[in-house]
Amino acid sequence: MMLVCYILLISALVGDTLEDDITPTSPEEYYLEGSRVKISCNYTVKADNLQWYRQYPGSAPQFLLLLTHTATPLVVEATPPYPRMTAKLNDERTRVDLEISSAEVTDSALYYCLNLPTFSSLLN
Ligand SMILES: *[C@@H]1O[C@H](CO)[C@@H](O)[C@H](O)[C@H]1NC(C)=O
Repeated sequence: MMLVCYILLISALVGDTLEDDITPTSPEEYYLEGSRVKISCNYTVKADNLQWYRQYPGSAPQFLLLLTHTATPLVVEATPPYPRMTAKLNDERTRVDLEISSAEVTDSALYYCLNLPTFSSLLN
């Protein structure tokens, strides 16, 4: 039997005015157990940092990791960290990816990407 990991993607922006600023590139995806997962969100507003969360049914969202939007992006991990997960930006800085090195069935969840914009970008 092949085990499948099912991923649903949702995006959000902190702040009232820019709800459509960050968009999952695919609303849902299936991965075979053990495969490499890459889920992505496009964003447009200059971020202070970009965050990934996941949520299991009936539970609160869990913080996975945060990526700073600095010259050299820095990954800030959850405590305790999720060692199979990492995040990165594309060269153009329009997309943030979450990668899971080897999918497990328990990775099946709702995933959120969050753009925490810089204060100045909210004033435009
Ligand atoms: C995400 O960005 C890529 C490259 O700009 C574009 O081709 C794609 O249509 C975008 N997807 C969504 C859902 O906005």
